[in-house]
Amino acid sequence: MFLWVHYTDMVIALLAVPAAVAALWAAMRLPASPGTGPSRMWRLLFGLLLGGAALRVVAALLLLRDGWDFAGPRLVFVVPALVVIAAGYGVWVRPMLRSPAGEGRVAAWPGDYWAAMVAAGVVLVASAAQLVGTGGAAVTGVGVLGIAAVGSVWRRARWCRRSAGRWWRTAAKGALGAALAAAVLVGWSTASQLPARSSMTGSPVDTGGSTIGHAHHGGISVTTLTGTDTAGVPARRFTLTAQAATVELDSGQRVEAWTFNGVTPGPQLRVRQGDLVEVTLVNQLPGVGVTLHWHGVDVPNAMDGVAGVTQDAVPPGGRFVYRFRATQVGTYWYHSHEMSSVQVRRGLFGALVVLPADAPEQSDAVDETVLRHTWIDEDGVASLGVTTGAQRRQVPAGRQVRLRLVNTDGNPATFTLTGAPLRVVAIDGTDVHEPNVLHGVRILVGGGSRYDLAFTMPDQPVVLRADGPTIVYSPDGNAGPGRESPAPALLDPARYGTPAATPFGAASHVDRRFTLRVDERLGFYDGRPAVRYTLNNRSFPDVPMLMVAPGDLVEVTYVNRSGQHHPMHLHGHHMLVLSRDGRPTSGSPWWVDTLDVGPGETYRVAFRADNPGIWMDHCHNLEHAANGMILHLGYAGITTPFQTGHGTANHPE
Ligand code: C2O
Ligand code: CU
Repeated sequence: MFLWVHYTDMVIALLAVPAAVAALWAAMRLPASPGTGPSRMWRLLFGLLLGGAALRVVAALLLLRDGWDFAGPRLVFVVPALVVIAAGYGVWVRPMLRSPAGEGRVAAWPGDYWAAMVAAGVVLVASAAQLVGTGGAAVTGVGVLGIAAVGSVWRRARWCRRSAGRWWRTAAKGALGAALAAAVLVGWSTASQLPARSSMTGSPVDTGGSTIGHAHHGGISVTTLTGTDTAGVPARRFTLTAQAATVELDSGQRVEAWTFNGVTPGPQLRVRQGDLVEVTLVNQLPGVGVTLHWHGVDVPNAMDGVAGVTQDAVPPGGRFVYRFRATQVGTYWYHSHEMSSVQVRRGLFGALVVLPADAPEQSDAVDETVLRHTWIDEDGVASLGVTTGAQRRQVPAGRQVRLRLVNTDGNPATFTLTGAPLRVVAIDGTDVHEPNVLHGVRILVGGGSRYDLAFTMPDQPVVLRADGPTIVYSPDGNAGPGRESPAPALLDPARYGTPAATPFGAASHVDRRFTLRVDERLGFYDGRPAVRYTLNNRSFPDVPMLMVAPGDLVEVTYVNRSGQHHPMHLHGHHMLVLSRDGRPTSGSPWWVDTLDVGPGETYRVAFRADNPGIWMDHCHNLEHAANGMILHLGYAGITTPFQTGHGTANHPE
């Protein structure tokens, strides 16, 4: 039901603008002599607009349950449009249709053309409201009404062209052009731009001021938030050098990749819980900055690696040293957070695995990270590592196998495992509590998420499929993927595993509550036409910060009213999922750092604000982030000296 509403809304919005333009055009071209009725085409267009507007009213009413600020813009523009269109139909089209020869008494009266054109103009306003967004909509609407009015004048001018024809027409054409240009320009300038911004303005209260504005005097800089236990000699040291390299996939395709140390995925970093980790990032990329973000690891804010928020992007030839203590066991990944929609796609990522402190030094267990990546763009070729086809692995029967699945893309990917009883032992790095045994599994792994599977190797092949590429594990190493068996049941992480105590839950006292409605619309973003991705109808950098104080229990409700998946990723914190679509989660505590919010879904999550800083909260479909789906979680009194946007070196999105 919801999707139907959403798509109807979108499709009609898309159709309504050309239809309204065509209607205006047709109206202006109507023969002026009395006795000629409206053409069938014109009547058709009119009916289309009327039906379209009605559908959008229904859609807006259905969306009203999300609150007025969400459905309101649709209603405010569509309802008047509907009224005007209905009136237009009553006084103009209907009499026309009723008259036997298709000729109407009223057709001779120029005022009717006025009415028709104003009606079409109002529909245009409604559509523009939806397409451009609430901010620019009103102004665009005025511009469009202006066009309608000028069109009427023009029409009228033709009507009496014998007396003042030429002058009128020239003037009207000029005015029409000017109104059109004004409407476009206003729509353009009110659309989000990305000027240079730094730290936060806005008082550090509840929903806060603007995203990252200018620094408070006397605030604590993010650069000082380096952690309390990060002095001393690191247990593990790594150097990751960002460099360009040509990578050849097994399909023969060559990719001009950006890599760490010449390989992509980058080197796997394996550390132990409690280790002090030091990673030196060296940038040898041609002409672009780079950073390192530790996705899912709740590092101190200064080490978070977000260009323009926690550091400046490391320029070509530069270096930056990251230091953090690996406190959380589990599967994580790292990637650049400068131009991330481009850089991650091009290969600047790798796996980070934190093993338990007591994990044996030597073990014959198989422990493999499986990073699924799509090259070039979302429609490009999917691979595991650099292999797009089937890989074979030899694993003796009886061995323990752990597969750490990572989806480095934005869209969810379906992984299936068949051939062995297994458990899903961890999600987003956090162990599942008492996971039950499954006989084969299908998992929708959202963008940026990780799922760990564990099984004992049987004496038959085990097949891992990842929406294209596959890996076959078999005792002799020769088995192929075989026929695709019937798909196993889809894992529901909200119901999997067994409940356990959590530090807080649905019944806990909540200090701050936020609702984030994720949506999309056509419009302008950063000065170019784009599908704009919005949070509460706004796009970065105009989305207010979520302001918290240390110690707060924060509840966030993610409401997806778009037709796409949005894997919402909060930096620096892990979120406990409380409910989905109003139904409480009932399995193991489900902790996430990246939550795939599907079309029409609503999730309630909670987290403890225990890691002061300025933290990105964004869609990990990085193309969406690059088109506005970013906001920040801010702690009162903390500021950043860094800037993002045009004229700076930092473009974290
Ligand atoms: Cu994996 Cu903000 O990123
Ligand atoms: Cu998204």
